[in-house]
Amino acid sequence: MGKIAVYPGSFDPITFGHADIVGRALECFDGVIVAIAADGQKNALFTVEERVDMARVALREKPDVVVESFRGLLVDYVARTKATVILRGLRATSDFDYEFHMASTNKNLNENVETLFMMASKDFFFVSSRTIKEVAGLDGSVKGLVPECVEKKLKERFAAIRKREQK
Ligand code: PNS
Repeated sequence: MGKIAVYPGSFDPITFGHADIVGRALECFDGVIVAIAADGQKNALFTVEERVDMARVALREKPDVVVESFRGLLVDYVARTKATVILRGLRATSDFDYEFHMASTNKNLNENVETLFMMASKDFFFVSSRTIKEVAGLDGSVKGLVPECVEKKLKERFAAIRKREQK
C-alpha cells in the first residue's frame, strides 16, 4: 500500500475548491480518501448520503480516490484506514486558528497522525461551502465554483425549501 492521505470535512456540498485540493494531493500521495463527517454539522443542507453521492460524482474521473462517510473521532477513522496523514485545505489566515486547534487536538488524541495543509489555489481561495449555500439560497449563480451535479442539487433543494416556506 502506498502513501494515503485522508481529506476530511463536512463537504456540504463539495466545491471545485475541494476537488482542486484532491487533484493536487494526488501529485503528492498514492491515494486520497475523502472522508465526509456524518455527525457534527447539525444544520447541514444535505444528508451525509447526498454529500457522499455528490462527491463521488464530482471526483469520479480522478484515479485513486475513495469517498466515504465516517462517524466518531477523525483520528480513529484515520487509524482504521491505516493512513497516517490528515490533509486540510487552507484558504486564508482566518482559517488558521480553527485548523491549528483541530490539528493540535488530533495530535493530542493520536500522535502518529500528522496533519498537512495545502494552500487553496488562486482560482478557488474565496470558495467555501458556506458562501456557496448563501449565494445559491438567494438564487445567485454558483456556476464554475461547484460541479454541475452540485449546482443542480442546490437549485432543487432551495426550490423545495422556498415552496415549503410559501405554504
Ligand atoms: O469541513 P469542516 O466542517 O471544517 O470539517 C470539520 C471536520 C469534519 C474535519 C471535523 O469537525 C472533524 O474531524 N469531526 C470529527 C470529530 C472529531 O474527530 N473531532 C475532534 C477534532 S476537532
